[in-house]
Amino acid sequence: MLTPFTLLLVFSSLSLSTTGLRIEKRDFDVFNYVDPLIGTANGGHVFPGATLPFGMAKAGADVNNPDEKQGGFASDSSDITGFSHMHDSGTGGSPSLGNFPFFPQTGCPGDLVNNCLFTKTDRASRRINGSVKAHPGYFAVSLNTSIHAEMTVSNHTALYRLTFPNNSSLPNSPLVLFDLTDLPESRTNGSIQVDPTTGRITGNGTFAPSFGIGTYDLHFCADFSGANLRDTGAFMNNRAGSQPKNLSIVYDGVDSPPVPAGAWVQFQAPTNSQILIRVGVSFISTAQACSNAEGEIPDFDFASILQSAEDVWRDKLSVLEVDNTGVNEEIQTVFWSGAYRAMISPQDYTGENPLWQSDEPYYDSYYCIWDSFRSIHPLITLLDPESQTLMIRSLIDIYRHEGKLPDCRMSLCKGFTQGGSNADVVLADSYLKNITEGVDWETGYEAVVSNAEDEPKNWDVEGRGGLMSWKTLGYIPTDDFDPYGTGTFSRSISRTVEYAYNDFCISEIAQGLGHTLDEEKYMARSENWKNMYKADQTSMVNNTNASPGKVTDSGFTGFLQPRYLNGTFGFQDPSLCSPLYNFTSCYLNTNGHETYEGSSWMYTLFVPQDMATLVTTLGGPETFNARLSYLHTSGLLYIGDEQAFLPVFQFHYGGRPGLSAYFSHFYIPSQFNTSTNGIAGNDDSGAMGSFTTLAMMGLWPVSGQDVYLITPPYFPEVNITSRQTGNTATVRNINFDGSYEGIYIQSATLDGVQYTKNWIAHSFYLDGGLLELTLGRNESSWGTAQADLPPSTSTGQ
Ligand SMILES: *[C@@H]1O[C@H](CO)[C@@H](O)[C@H](O)[C@H]1NC(C)=O
Ligand SMILES: *[C@@H]1O[C@H](CO)[C@@H](O)[C@H](O)[C@H]1NC(C)=O
Ligand SMILES: *[C@@H]1O[C@H](CO)[C@@H](O)[C@H](O)[C@H]1NC(C)=O
Ligand SMILES: *[C@@H]1O[C@H](CO)[C@@H](O)[C@H](O)[C@H]1NC(C)=O
Ligand SMILES: *[C@@H]1O[C@H](CO)[C@@H](O)[C@H](O)[C@H]1NC(C)=O
Ligand SMILES: *[C@@H]1O[C@H](CO)[C@@H](O)[C@H](O)[C@H]1NC(C)=O
Ligand SMILES: *[C@@H]1O[C@H](CO)[C@@H](O)[C@H](O)[C@H]1NC(C)=O
Ligand SMILES: *[C@@H]1O[C@H](CO)[C@@H](O)[C@H](O)[C@H]1NC(C)=O
Ligand SMILES: *[C@@H]1O[C@H](CO)[C@@H](O)[C@H](O)[C@H]1NC(C)=O
Ligand SMILES: *[C@@H]1O[C@H](CO)[C@@H](O)[C@H](O)[C@H]1NC(C)=O
Ligand SMILES: *[C@@H]1O[C@H](CO)[C@@H](O)[C@H](O)[C@H]1NC(C)=O
Ligand SMILES: *[C@@H]1O[C@H](CO)[C@@H](O)[C@H](O)[C@H]1NC(C)=O
Repeated sequence: MLTPFTLLLVFSSLSLSTTGLRIEKRDFDVFNYVDPLIGTANGGHVFPGATLPFGMAKAGADVNNPDEKQGGFASDSSDITGFSHMHDSGTGGSPSLGNFPFFPQTGCPGDLVNNCLFTKTDRASRRINGSVKAHPGYFAVSLNTSIHAEMTVSNHTALYRLTFPNNSSLPNSPLVLFDLTDLPESRTNGSIQVDPTTGRITGNGTFAPSFGIGTYDLHFCADFSGANLRDTGAFMNNRAGSQPKNLSIVYDGVDSPPVPAGAWVQFQAPTNSQILIRVGVSFISTAQACSNAEGEIPDFDFASILQSAEDVWRDKLSVLEVDNTGVNEEIQTVFWSGAYRAMISPQDYTGENPLWQSDEPYYDSYYCIWDSFRSIHPLITLLDPESQTLMIRSLIDIYRHEGKLPDCRMSLCKGFTQGGSNADVVLADSYLKNITEGVDWETGYEAVVSNAEDEPKNWDVEGRGGLMSWKTLGYIPTDDFDPYGTGTFSRSISRTVEYAYNDFCISEIAQGLGHTLDEEKYMARSENWKNMYKADQTSMVNNTNASPGKVTDSGFTGFLQPRYLNGTFGFQDPSLCSPLYNFTSCYLNTNGHETYEGSSWMYTLFVPQDMATLVTTLGGPETFNARLSYLHTSGLLYIGDEQAFLPVFQFHYGGRPGLSAYFSHFYIPSQFNTSTNGIAGNDDSGAMGSFTTLAMMGLWPVSGQDVYLITPPYFPEVNITSRQTGNTATVRNINFDGSYEGIYIQSATLDGVQYTKNWIAHSFYLDGGLLELTLGRNESSWGTAQADLPPSTSTGQ
């Protein structure tokens, strides 16, 4: 709703712009438009707590809803079981991290420690409705016990400020317990100590990653301030005592979930009703957890730590500027919140990696690259190229020491591979976009070639399977004979198209590094998608939006189909695993089908390297555009999974850039809004956020290529200032229309010169410049000529 005050503002800025004046400095606080609670219900799994950009410490409240606690918190009516210091955001596997939660109580009934509540089940408490507050670097919630909890963070340390009520029905003698547990209840061994003179609690545990193999050890160190210590002790199950002061638990191999156990401290009444708790974390040792905490937060100064965290976020977001004249608040909040969420992970664990000695940076929570390669890394490259550079170096260092690049990695462990070796795409994208500082690209190249050439023993957690068939037959046979490694024998179609694109990306790096023979070899392999294309395959589709409950002929012919070792094609209904037909039957398992988390309808379009040939193969531009429109309008495509992003913009290759703009608005904001359930699918470390932000910025990056597809921004003007060169790239809409009816580019100029290509290269962002788009209400001929289309391998552009 517009207040008279905002109406006035909008009006005055409009009159300014009609006279050609621009507002010099607007009174704008980006935090007014970042809502960390978006996506904390309905499967978004977003972590809404306090974190620095890419920080390791992530402080938040944890709830007990098993379906929604992946990121710790959920905006629903579930109970809060504690506050913990490490999280992942938006993940779809089992709940992640959430180690060593603490839980505060005002006092124990009858002043008997055993009357306090110790287990997660017993202590789970409702929140006070309306008490949740979140902004970058800060999270707060009140428990129904009237304890108000606030939190902020530094890089490896969480700082909590608890305000206790004066509740005469309980002794005013707060008890805080620390629990040797995590969100997925994965602890095996664990150990905890409490110092009876200082109250310091230290501990460690062995835990399992949430979507991968192996275990990891984590350590913590907690200190308290604000009240005098009264007593200390340990608990196990729901019993507690002042002795012993430490526990050491060796996993018995039986208990699941593990036995609730931990330590507690009890205080006299706090002097000003507040107790501060500082929790350092480390993957190295409890000593390092303590020194991280002491070094980063020496004096428990909540206000100053919060201020630093807010400053870091404002600085990170400052390279992005928009003119918000006439843009509704909802759109602005989706935009900025998406940019924020794209900088929560990967997490900077530099100096915290116990697995190998190295001077290189170490980032973790690449969760997962299959999700993040498409838009998260391209957005980080634009907003924070230094961090992207450190991530590339860390990926290459993981290759050095683990023997392969990860496709998914969390908590120092290998995560599951969903399709191709898509780190190849991330490396190529960065290689083409001036990510160079300290990057050993020859080793980076060796790493991507290893993906393409050397099958690992377990290709479920790295590299690729079926490489022998890939090299000899040129596709992954649906009945592959692959005795060279083990992995999940499914997804033959989606793996084939992803491997083909991965090989194209390798050929790009080979070209840059002058490895000419390799360039040709991988370019040739990038055509392998053709080998699973069955030209006469038709598709009957049930229950489309146009024909509910009815089976109709889609009218389109030619789809990717399963293919056997002997060359014969099999059959998978092209609509299988779309929302219209057995949507959820293409997950990661051996009974799975040949397309991962999506239909052949969708995967048939995944040829980003050679869309020109695909367009011809599918019957030419008109049929192609009609098919792509049908994909979006029939109900066959689910925008909440990352493979759906690129098809929104592929009309550019069919010579209809206006339809890309149309379909961008078709999904945003209808499928992405500012409510807690405002994300279509799991956010996957910010993938959905990066999709909306990039789509609204107007230049969609084709990840793995030096190509951005031009659509109009959702703002009158968007600026990005390069942190590498200091130059500002401006995309400006002329005839901007806040109701988004005039979203079709009529003409464009780049630095005053007519510009007809419907795409632009990354040099625009590095060199800066002004791309002016004149908009209208109807599609025009702008960007539609053959010479204006984005590059494809077959056209040699
Ligand atoms: C608090 O919210 C929950 C969940 O929305 C609801 O069930 C409950 O009735 C609310 N309580 C109050 C006091 O409003
Ligand atoms: C707080 O919530 C828990 C869980 O719903 C409930 O068992 C407990 O009685 C509530 N306590 C208060 C003080 O309302
Ligand atoms: C936190 O980490 C970032 C990135 O690694 C670094 O630039 C920054 O200096 C660190 N902050 C502090 C206070 O150490
Ligand atoms: C509790 O009482 C103390 C002492 O009277 C007072 O300083 C404090 O502000 C009170 N706290 C709350 C939350 O009311
Ligand atoms: C005091 O604590 C008791 C027990 O937890 C709870 O039932 C009661 O609602 C609390 N009163 C206030 C004013 O918070
Ligand atoms: C747990 O500790 C025991 C005894 O020290 C050790 O043998 C075992 O390997 C440990 N288990 C894990 C998973 O670390
Ligand atoms: C955890 O801490 C205990 C006690 O300090 C120590 O004996 C044990 O080795 C530690 N475990 C790990 C995995 O570091
Ligand atoms: C974008 O940058 C240009 C050139 O630096 C500047 O004139 C303009 O005001 C900026 N626009 C916004 C929305 O900040
Ligand atoms: C088509 O979809 C409708 C609605 O989901 C379903 O009831 C019907 O059985 C389906 N028909 C076929 C032939 O699959
Ligand atoms: C090829 O193999 C498939 C799967 O085993 C089989 O169904 C098909 O009949 C074979 N085709 C030929 C021509 O042998
Ligand atoms: C579709 O799902 C139904 C119900 O789970 C199952 O019986 C059928 O086999 C599935 N079809 C395919 C092709 O997976
Ligand atoms: C590439 O980035 C470096 C900083 O990392 C910068 O100095 C240089 O100007 C950039 N190169 C181009 C071509 O923009």
